[in-house]
Amino acid sequence: MTARILVVEDERAIQVALRGLLVRTGYDVTLASDGREALDRLAEGPFDLVLTDLSLGKGPSGMDVLKASKEVREETAVVMITAHGSEKIAVEAMKAGAEDYVPKPFDNDEIRVIVARALERRRLERENRLLLERIQRDTGFERLIGSGAAMRDVFATIQKVAETDLTVLVRGESGTGKEGIAQALHNVSNRKKRPFVAVNCAAISRELVESELFGHEKGAFTGADSRREGRFEAASGGTIFLDEIGDMPRETQAKVLRVLQERTFERVGGNQSVEVDVRVVAATHRDLETEVREGRFREDLYYRLKVVEIELPPLRERLEDLPALCARFLEQVAERLERDKKQLSPEALARLGRHPWPGNVRELRNVIEQAAVLSTGDVIEEADLNLRASSAAGEAAASVDTGHSFSEAKKSAVESFERNFLLQALRENDGNVSRTAQAIGMVRQSLQQKIRDLDLRSEDWSQNGEPGGPKS
Ligand SMILES: Nc1ncnc2c1ncn2[C@@H]1O[C@H](COP(=O)(O)OP(=O)(O)OP(=O)(O)O)[C@@H](O)[C@H]1O
Ligand SMILES: [Mg+2]
Repeated sequence: MTARILVVEDERAIQVALRGLLVRTGYDVTLASDGREALDRLAEGPFDLVLTDLSLGKGPSGMDVLKASKEVREETAVVMITAHGSEKIAVEAMKAGAEDYVPKPFDNDEIRVIVARALERRRLERENRLLLERIQRDTGFERLIGSGAAMRDVFATIQKVAETDLTVLVRGESGTGKEGIAQALHNVSNRKKRPFVAVNCAAISRELVESELFGHEKGAFTGADSRREGRFEAASGGTIFLDEIGDMPRETQAKVLRVLQERTFERVGGNQSVEVDVRVVAATHRDLETEVREGRFREDLYYRLKVVEIELPPLRERLEDLPALCARFLEQVAERLERDKKQLSPEALARLGRHPWPGNVRELRNVIEQAAVLSTGDVIEEADLNLRASSAAGEAAASVDTGHSFSEAKKSAVESFERNFLLQALRENDGNVSRTAQAIGMVRQSLQQKIRDLDLRSEDWSQNGEPGGPKS
């Protein structure tokens, strides 16, 4: 889109020269010979940039044109043309919001560069603002779905603490929407224009978590070649989201506690106190009371965090939200793939209603997205739903425990995945091993071996729980 420029200049020769230069550069140029005319042009509609002489003779001055341009549209870029030796006024104009100034006499290149730069800066700002608005719209409070009593309580709590800086602890199983709540808390607060910084404490190694959070000084450890700002500083003026805080090492907990109490910390390897103004929102899927009782989590930090507590119910306890969540995820897939939005058949919706959703809303989103992509018709049928893999994956995800070694944790995750997968397959094939093996692409003997290894019992898969051994 061609940028619209208003040139306000009372000297005819300069006016014509500027128009010629800017039109040749590809801009759409409107001229005004004095302040009065400039205000009239502005009243007819916004410009992307106003290039105005500071002294315009009788009537409104260049400063008046600057103010009027900003009133019409805050984002209008204004560049002042100043007579030699009036830098002082030019600085005034910059303080009043001018983008830049050009002292007379000027050359064409100078004008071209200053105009292009001012327009580019404005374009980026506008893009940023639109992006922020879209993010806030997409992650805003109003985008969270929840019609049942429990979720309405959650929303009421968010509203109540909206204008405060109170620390909030969000709890809930994996995939229940803790991050979405943290983002919504930020977006309804006075800090919404400032950064929202999310840190997953479970995803950072013990050695690095402090440097990640608090930054480090040059030489603090091997490889620390320069000072590095941490996430607390990056969140300055905004909100820091400490996700999976239940997994934070005890020594780091002490430092976070100090930030909550005194709003200061030292960078790793430093002794200078850094003051920070952040609002803290924390989340965990862990049972913090047990963590405190067993000494893995500091009690004083626990009480400091739960000034306001938000408990997110698992999806299986808010199935009334299933249709709305499905509709939202079908909409999002359609938007992303630029396709028509698919519908769910009543049978498919009923089937979803019977699923335990161990992976909660995230699992539902994955199931819906997969069905929307893989199903052929406009309506998603029960057969298009891949609940087996998702529930096994969901269970495995939900049951991750970092108290064990990685290999142990992996082994137990794989085992619980296999267990759920096979039980589901055997149930669907009435315990018939041959048919099950065929359905899941396994050799009958190795399935039998797996059943023995995992110690699966017929009562585990038989519909009525009656014992009776696998049918060959
Ligand atoms: N009430 C809701 N309305 C709409 N979408 C939701 C809602 N709750 C969760 N979601 C969606 O479900 C997905 C998982 O949510 P989120 O990442 O916030 O979960 P979480 O509790 O942080 O999970 P984890 O503990 O695994 O980190 C996201 O895509 C989110 O947008
Ligand atoms: Mg999360």
